[in-house]
Amino acid sequence: MARLKLGILISGRGSNMQALIAACREGRVDAEVRLVLSNRVDAGGLAHAKTAGIATCIVSHRDFADRAGFDAALDQALRRAGVDFVCLAGFMRLLTPGFIESWRDRMINIHPSLLPAFPGLDTHRRALEAGVKLAGCTVHFVRFETDSGPIVAQAAVPVLADDDEASLAVRVLAAEHRLYPLALRLIAEGRVQVAGERALAKAPTPPQSALLNPPD
Ligand code: GRF
Repeated sequence: MARLKLGILISGRGSNMQALIAACREGRVDAEVRLVLSNRVDAGGLAHAKTAGIATCIVSHRDFADRAGFDAALDQALRRAGVDFVCLAGFMRLLTPGFIESWRDRMINIHPSLLPAFPGLDTHRRALEAGVKLAGCTVHFVRFETDSGPIVAQAAVPVLADDDEASLAVRVLAAEHRLYPLALRLIAEGRVQVAGERALAKAPTPPQSALLNPPD
């Protein structure tokens, strides 16, 4: 499989972006980050990408009258940079069906819940309100419905009795930083196939033991 040429889309701090850049740099993922694109000038992740010597670009949604115009500009920037695979990493804009379709099965996202539970915003608050005992994160191919699409990989973490949104977010984020490079590696190695609405990965069989919370 040809080496992936990545475009990473961010809107904020970019810690998942950093995890992906590190994994590519250290040879854990056979892919090259061609472009980091942000829709916000003040995205913290831009500075890190620049320090890492990666091309960055800002396409502000405010400069466009509609979503279609914005998405066309995104698409142009990605293609101009030679990108052939897109990783959404905290990118806070809804994408149009046309854009999503043109990157079908070549665009993944990370979401901080065990999808299909708790898609959308305020994920951790809603998980705590629901009283779930396990939380986690999901890497999935992008489809039109928010945070939907074939699931590549998931990580589960316990919710602790005294968790608040911040403490849960920290635990899930640490899992995200492991999961996103792993999912991308499986894809880069050609080990993930999308069949209908499911993604199947050729990967080692995981441990069969359950993560219990509370523990027995
Ligand atoms: C992460 O929790 C990610 O799952 C979600 O947005 C957050 C982005 O964080 N989509 P960062 O910018 O990668 O630090």
